[in-house]
Amino acid sequence: MLNTLKDADFTEKKVLLRADLDVPLDVKSGDISDDSRLKAAIPTIKKILDDGAKQLIIMGHMGSPGGKIVKPLCMDKVAIRLMKLSGKSICKLDDCINIKIPENEKIILLENLRFHKEEEANDIEFAKKLASCADIYVNNAFATCHRAHASMHAITKLLPGCIGLQIEKELENLDFSTMQRPIIALLGGAKLKTKIPIIQAMLVQADKVLIGGGMMFTFYAVQGLEIGKSLVDYTYSSNAKIMLYNEKLALPKDVVIADYENNQAGIRTVSYNQIPAKSIGLDIGEESIEEFKQELRKANTIIWNGPMGYYEKPPFDKATAELAKIIADLDCKKIVGGGDTADLINKLGLAGKFTFVSSGGGAALELLSGKKLVALEELDKNTRSGVGYG
Ligand code: 3PG
Repeated sequence: MLNTLKDADFTEKKVLLRADLDVPLDVKSGDISDDSRLKAAIPTIKKILDDGAKQLIIMGHMGSPGGKIVKPLCMDKVAIRLMKLSGKSICKLDDCINIKIPENEKIILLENLRFHKEEEANDIEFAKKLASCADIYVNNAFATCHRAHASMHAITKLLPGCIGLQIEKELENLDFSTMQRPIIALLGGAKLKTKIPIIQAMLVQADKVLIGGGMMFTFYAVQGLEIGKSLVDYTYSSNAKIMLYNEKLALPKDVVIADYENNQAGIRTVSYNQIPAKSIGLDIGEESIEEFKQELRKANTIIWNGPMGYYEKPPFDKATAELAKIIADLDCKKIVGGGDTADLINKLGLAGKFTFVSSGGGAALELLSGKKLVALEELDKNTRSGVGYG
C-alpha cells in the first residue's frame, strides 16, 4: 500500500510536491487552453498547507523542451493560474536547481524540470539537487507516473514520500475490482498501435468492447474488406485477427465516408463492407451509434477512451459528440480515461456529468491495461525500505 497524505506529518516541514503542470497551450495565443490538471492539484496543495507545512515547493514539467530552455514552456503562466485557482500567493523561481529558495515565501513554484536533460534521464545527482530543498516528497503527478524521470523516480530514493489526493483518486477510480458489472468499454482513436494494450485488457476485464475511430479500419482490412483510403496498420494485423474471434468485440456496422482528395465532398454513410476504393472512412454511422447506445444502456460501468471519428473536423465529430451526450445522461459509473477524451468532454461542457475524468493520458491507459506505473512502484519500494526516515 502506498503512503498517502494521511500517513505523513507535514508540521513545520518543507514539502516538495511533484504536480501535473503539463497543461495544453493554445497554439495561437500560447495561453493555457485547459487548466483541469491545475484544478486537480489544488486539494492536495491546500491539504499540505492546512496540515502545517512550513513551506511548499511545487515542481513539474510542461511539454517536451528536450533539456533546453524553451521560453513558451516557462512556468510563469502556470504560476499565475495556480495563484488564481488557489487564492494564494506563489513565488515562481527561474530554475529548478542551483537556486536559493526564499525562506519567507510559503509557496514556491520551480521552473520547468524538463529544461534540464537530467530530468528525463532519471539522473540521481539532479534528483539530489531537487531533494536538497525539502524534508518530504509528495507525488501527485498521476499523468507522469508511467515515466521513470528524476522528479518521479530517482527522487524517491532520497526523501520520505507519499502520494497526493489526485493519485489516490485515480487509483481508486481506475481499479477494476471496484467496478460494477456489466462493464462496457467504448474505445476509439486513430492509432491501433497505441490502443492494442487497452483493447486487450478490456477484452479480458470488460463485458463488451465497442470499437470506433480510425483504428476500426484495420479490423475490417484484416477480414479482406475494401477500406478505400482509410487508416490502416498492417503491423498489427495478427493482433486484430485474434481479437476478431472474441465475442465481446463489437465493430461499427456503418461508416461515414468522404472523398479522399477533399474530405468535405462526397460525405455519406455506407455499410462497413461497402467502402469505395477512392473514399476514406472518417466516422461511425447512425446505425452504429444506435447499436452502441443500446449496449451502453446495459452498463453499470462505462470506460471511455478515444473519439469515434475524425473529431477535429466537423461533421466527423458527430458520433463522438452524440455518444458523449448519451453517456453523460446515463445513470451508471462513467469513467473517461486518456487526455484527448478528457479534453473532448471538457470542450463539450460535459465533464461534470461523468463520474470520473482521469487527468492522465498515457498513465491512465497503462493502468487500465494492467501495467504497473513505474514511478509509483519505485515510491512504494523505497517507502517500504524506509528511505529518508530516521
Ligand atoms: C502527459 O501529458 O501525458 C504527461 O504530462 C506526460 O507527458 P509525456 O508523455 O511528455 O511524458
